[in-house]
Amino acid sequence: MNKYVVMVSLAALLTACGEKVEQAAAPAEAPKAAVQAQQAAPTAEAAAPAVDKAALAEEAKAAVQALGGTLKGELEAAMKAGGPVDAMGICHTKAPEIAKAVSAEKGMEVSRVSLKNRNPVMGQANEWQTAVLNDFETKKAAGEDPATLAYAEVVDNEFRFMKAIPTAAVCLKCHGTELSPAVSAKLTELYPNDKATGYQEGDLRGAFVVVKNLTQ
Ligand code: HEC
Repeated sequence: MNKYVVMVSLAALLTACGEKVEQAAAPAEAPKAAVQAQQAAPTAEAAAPAVDKAALAEEAKAAVQALGGTLKGELEAAMKAGGPVDAMGICHTKAPEIAKAVSAEKGMEVSRVSLKNRNPVMGQANEWQTAVLNDFETKKAAGEDPATLAYAEVVDNEFRFMKAIPTAAVCLKCHGTELSPAVSAKLTELYPNDKATGYQEGDLRGAFVVVKNLTQ
């Protein structure tokens, strides 16, 4: 379905280009050609002809690194200062704030999602994200290194990027199978519908998501 849309749009784009070349051979017609090109624009819009997917992917990776790096720094500092229970409280308030700040700074919406989410709103994967997460799981099961799994696509005038987040040993204190009673109690208090436990090192914890609206 998506491929079909891209193909149709591409055809429109190619037609538009072909028109331009033809008109360029007759200089007197140039202004008319410009008008025609403008009129053709709304039809060709879906193709977002100027999209440089590779450049956007680089931008998205930088945004992911900014979010991931900041979260990691905050988490480590909080764990050192007060252990996992305090760190949980800090994650609870700071993680969404950090995601917002990085999104504003990078001009792209950056977040984290999971098939088994803890944050009931922001952590919940939508349909498209669920499909990509399932694909990551399949690839991981086939032997691919989860640290290298990423996917980018342009859908509905949006550039979308996802990068898998593997579970490290340090994550198990709050996402593992054997949580301390204090951590469990804090989780029940802050996230009564938490699904994000039971992980083992190397499992896919979720993914970073980056979205950029291409019509703005
Ligand atoms: C101190 C406890 C703690 C540790 C350690 C921890 N997390 Fe979390 N994690 C949380 C909390 C709390 C949230 C929910 C934050 C929110 O409300 O946005 C969360 C949310 C997430 C999310 C967002 C998706 C979701 O489930 O809502 C991902 C992805 C994630 N953690 C990955 C990791 C990874 C990877 C590590 C190890 C590098 C890790 N976490 C270590 C407490 C922790």
